[in-house]
Amino acid sequence: MSDAIPRREANHVRNRPNCLGVFSPISFCLLLGCAMIAVMLAGGPLSAQTVSSQTVSGADIYQQRCAQCHENAAANRAPSRDTLQKMSASRILRTLDFGLMMGVAYPLTREERETVANFLGTKGSEPGPLAAAFCSAERHPLSGQSAGNWNGWSPSPANTRYQPAGGITKDQVARLKLKWAYGFAGDVTAFAEPTVLNGTIFVGSAGGVVQALEAKTGCLHWTFQANGPVRSAIVAVANGSDYSLLFGDQIGWFYALAAKTGRLLWKHRLDEHEGTRLTGSPAAYEGVVFVGAASWEETRSIEPHYACCTFRGSVTALRVADGSQVWKTYTIDPPKKTRVNSAGTQQWGPSGAPVWSAPTMDAKRGVIYVTTGDNYSSPSTATSDAVMALDIATGKIRWFQQTTPNDAYTSACRNRGPNCPEEDGPDYDFGSSALLLSLPGGKEILVAGQKSGVVYGLDPDQKGKILWQTRVGQGGRNGGVQWGMASDGQAVFAAVSDLAGVLNSGGAVGGAKFDPAKGGGLTALRPADGGNIWFAAPHPCDPPRPGCSPAQSQAVTAIPGVVFSGSVDGHLRAFAAEDGKALWDFDTAKSYSTVNGVEARGGSLDGAGPVIAGGMLFVNSGYPRNGGMPGNVLLAFAPEE
Ligand code: HEC
Repeated sequence: MSDAIPRREANHVRNRPNCLGVFSPISFCLLLGCAMIAVMLAGGPLSAQTVSSQTVSGADIYQQRCAQCHENAAANRAPSRDTLQKMSASRILRTLDFGLMMGVAYPLTREERETVANFLGTKGSEPGPLAAAFCSAERHPLSGQSAGNWNGWSPSPANTRYQPAGGITKDQVARLKLKWAYGFAGDVTAFAEPTVLNGTIFVGSAGGVVQALEAKTGCLHWTFQANGPVRSAIVAVANGSDYSLLFGDQIGWFYALAAKTGRLLWKHRLDEHEGTRLTGSPAAYEGVVFVGAASWEETRSIEPHYACCTFRGSVTALRVADGSQVWKTYTIDPPKKTRVNSAGTQQWGPSGAPVWSAPTMDAKRGVIYVTTGDNYSSPSTATSDAVMALDIATGKIRWFQQTTPNDAYTSACRNRGPNCPEEDGPDYDFGSSALLLSLPGGKEILVAGQKSGVVYGLDPDQKGKILWQTRVGQGGRNGGVQWGMASDGQAVFAAVSDLAGVLNSGGAVGGAKFDPAKGGGLTALRPADGGNIWFAAPHPCDPPRPGCSPAQSQAVTAIPGVVFSGSVDGHLRAFAAEDGKALWDFDTAKSYSTVNGVEARGGSLDGAGPVIAGGMLFVNSGYPRNGGMPGNVLLAFAPEE
């Protein structure tokens, strides 16, 4: 499966003139054409002669191109129209040009993009950081203490998300106080996991700005503008007297920057597929960085004319020095033409089995472990919803263990659209990394949590044989274990999402009305046999504000004696590792005055989890993607003296 990327005709038709005489992918031609004909039949402002980009208003483009998702935010994981209207036009344009909406925007001309961005967004260009946001000249990156760094997805390559030396004790947790807040200008989402190295924070943003901040004060050392949104944690690898910062973005680019200056060392597009997104954090080992790839195809396929699906999950190993490829391994075989869907669109399969999370290193066995998501189209494969072991040196697949067979799904399945494969879900991806743990007596075990709500113990010495499985949640599309568990070695801490939507609130900020009493919960399991140690019940939303859910989909973090779990309700909570007793609770969903002078709010906690380093705790707040509360703030806490 480690072969070259094939060129697909289906989703890569770019230069064929369509019915409107403009150049665009054929699938979108059909959609736009139909929409315009519908407008004409309805007695709209367009006549056959005047169908051209210049005459279409921003409102029309919005209706034809955006409304299907953004007026139904909860169902489509998209921010609501109200949320878009709070963004600047230039920011929306950036989103269409090289941001999250790039795929949607392919058929739009430059003019159409500007028109719809101006129609939706607020006026004015995006200002750079205020001069006052920067650190004074004598303060330099990486000049702080090096004890207790948090580098990448987890302080240890075993992905336990356990910080043994973060400088915060269990006794101090009840006295954690907000020290500073930093706002991401123009963003509605704050979803990247910070890396903290020698007193400096390196963190990405939805606007694609990577920033280096002084951990103590939040003052800004430098910024770097990536091509697309950056949510993966940044991995720092020593490079002479400096470090190289390695990370991917949400449109498939992978970068190396010099940590002291933010200067670009190299960047590569990791995969040719236009739907590629790099959500999982990279992991580095002996001069090589390993990157998992996921994609946007699952949502692209809502469109009946999207030729679903051709993306293949993969892991790529690159040399840290220059980004050259060591190996690339796909999780599935190349897609072939399959059926034609009810809208007349050619289908391809197999597809999917994306890698959403950070690889787990096992130097002793010479392998890295990755977890995979579902297939997007038929036929389903044996390597979707699976844990896989790849040879570190060659990328060869040593073994894989599938936990949910026959899981092919796209967002089209929600309305049984033409691009829903016959398997029709259940959409039980692994979205989180496997943890490699040592048991008493020295035996090791892999522990993986799935959206199905089941946590598995697998034997790394018996090709991933399932040793135990324990249900911790109901499971679902946004259910079960989403972004990550933690373990202090004594217990595995599995928080559960089980996000339950009631109805779409029709455009309120955050979009969705969730069931205020469903979802969430944190279970501590024994690593040896999956037995239940304790369960900390979720907190119903009180009051049940829009975008609020008790779901605990954010990745969990542990320090000695304490577990931190964030919720879609905006609260970050600390629990005693021993018995699950509540130790601390902070509601992040409010306004902040920030050290960089950017207007900022907190919202839902989701995605990457809190990080603890150098006696401080850092967490990003704001995640409207699944209908949760928007936000754009990085918060820094420290115990009050
Ligand atoms: C097929 C569904 C779909 C369509 C059509 C669509 N969007 Fe989106 N949009 C999404 C989703 C899903 C997200 C959230 C992605 C995320 O945060 O992961 C989003 C996010 C956005 C964002 C926020 C990006 C950010 O960085 O936070 C903007 C701005 C946006 N869309 C603008 C538009 C515009 C303008 C159009 C029409 C030209 C459009 N969208 C059409 C699904 C869609």
